[in-house]
Amino acid sequence: MDIKKLVRKEIENFQAYVPGKPINEVKRELGIKGNIVKLASNENSLGASKKVIAAIKKAASEVYRYPEGVSYELRKAMAAKTGVNFNEVLFGSGSDEIIELLGKVFLNPGDEIVVSKHAFIRYKMAGDLMGCSVVTVPMKNYTHDLPAMAAVLNVKTKMIFIANPNNPTGTYNTGQELESFLEGLAKKGDTPPLVIVDEAYYEFALIEKKYPDSVSLLKKYPNLVILRTFSKIYALAGLRAGYAIANSEVIGYLDRIRPPFNITLITQYAVLAALKDEKTQIKKALKVVENGKKYLYAELEKIGLKYIKTVANFILVESAPKKGKDVFNQLLKKGVIVRAMDEYELPFHFRVTVGKKNENSIFIKELKNILEE
Ligand SMILES: Cc1ncc(COP(=O)(O)O)c(C=O)c1O
Repeated sequence: MDIKKLVRKEIENFQAYVPGKPINEVKRELGIKGNIVKLASNENSLGASKKVIAAIKKAASEVYRYPEGVSYELRKAMAAKTGVNFNEVLFGSGSDEIIELLGKVFLNPGDEIVVSKHAFIRYKMAGDLMGCSVVTVPMKNYTHDLPAMAAVLNVKTKMIFIANPNNPTGTYNTGQELESFLEGLAKKGDTPPLVIVDEAYYEFALIEKKYPDSVSLLKKYPNLVILRTFSKIYALAGLRAGYAIANSEVIGYLDRIRPPFNITLITQYAVLAALKDEKTQIKKALKVVENGKKYLYAELEKIGLKYIKTVANFILVESAPKKGKDVFNQLLKKGVIVRAMDEYELPFHFRVTVGKKNENSIFIKELKNILEE
């Protein structure tokens, strides 16, 4: 039997997502017994707050029940926090799930989506999955070039993705840039394409005065969809919770096809606890990242490696003439996991997450070692 004949052609050509290497896999593959420093997936290695962990333990006794399908309490809490209505919020199993839901709701084969070169790869994957053409626009100074993205729009364009800040470059577009982009689209016609602004690193980027207040733009621009997550500063990556804030009609369609019970019972309790305890959690993480950034910038400069200034919790480092993949493999052998950037068309770069003080210094020590090898 030839299973291939039964598979959709979009799936046959589909490239699976390559995640940052998990710690246990590295230990297994390389036979490393000691500690591994994982700076590969932009997690918050301070971990979740004690109150969140207590809430998770408490929730354990209830796991024989299905969770609430609509994540009622979470949506209510998030709507109150962001100043929108209940029906303008939707939770997904990570913002990843929402990116995929957006594709499934809005994209037909032959439609176009617009992404930036070096932008988070899941947008392109959502387009590929649905048989769309993915139009890739070059960046300007490693930043989304919004006027250039506007210039490629045509009747087939259904969606434009803007990662703000972008992973892996760590750069961002200002409120002014975003607003004039949305305004330009609105002027073109009654039904402009959807603009997905992915703010996975929102809480880190807020320290920038010019960072957009995207929620305030929703009323004026109903084609705007904002994505955020609990995976990063809230340190809940392992539980998978992200959310969309958008026009109630958009949310309604996403909700229609959302898998039932997509947010686990434990995750729902954990997210609620995380929201109650967010001030301390965010303050601590911001301090660690700000100090870590200063340290890493200074050390990279001493080593003589170029990097891109970041508004998030990771740094894109140029390793030329060495390939990013070689740096990744050599560091891996030393027990430090970073991320090679080949799938982002950056073969001479690697990305490192800003970790805790000791993690950053181990990374720098081993980086110096491998560059001397
Ligand atoms: C820009 C961006 N968007 C979305 C995600 C996915 O996050 P989540 O864990 O919520 O699925 C990531 C994760 O690295 C990201 O960097």
